[in-house]
Amino acid sequence: MKNNASKKMQLNGHETEIQKYGTVANRPISLDHKVRLASAESLNQILADTMTLRDLYKKHHWQVSGPTFYQLHLLFDKHFGEQAEIVDTLAERIQTLGGVAIAMAPDVAETTRIARPPRGREDVAMQLFRLLQAHELIIDETREAAKTAIAGGDDGTNDMLVSDVLRLNEFQVWFINEQMAGAGIADKDEEAARSLVGAHS
Ligand SMILES: [Fe+2]
Repeated sequence: MKNNASKKMQLNGHETEIQKYGTVANRPISLDHKVRLASAESLNQILADTMTLRDLYKKHHWQVSGPTFYQLHLLFDKHFGEQAEIVDTLAERIQTLGGVAIAMAPDVAETTRIARPPRGREDVAMQLFRLLQAHELIIDETREAAKTAIAGGDDGTNDMLVSDVLRLNEFQVWFINEQMAGAGIADKDEEAARSLVGAHS
């Protein structure tokens, strides 16, 4: 059965999209089109990476094993929930600026800079390492985007990035980092892990 959108397309020959991704609609919030466009673009990158980190937490919540299973099973789900809230905050800031928030998994997969993990299970040390790498990437791009936003006068985006995104990621890194120390990953393992996820120090 065809939905209304496809019927409309057939009847009028029009595209179903009312606004293209990568554009910003007018918003009377006293911010230049150029500034809103730049903020929406960097927010969409952070959004795609945050959605990937959120899903990485759920993967690890399900697949964790070992003597720390229960505490990590709970911790990973707590961080998943907090990242899910940030996803909504980021997406709604993009819409507030007149932009279009990235939403669907295939688009997120094409956009994220976080390395794709295997479908199978990995040990705790590797799980924690992947999380730390993803957090650091998001922290870097969030600090950069926050600076650009304030330089353009977009105080609202700057405040959200620093107060909500940056602080949450730093706080979650504290917990994952302390777990990492407990997992006893050796320096040589860390070096090998870095090459696996394509990260650079
Ligand atoms: Fe669960």
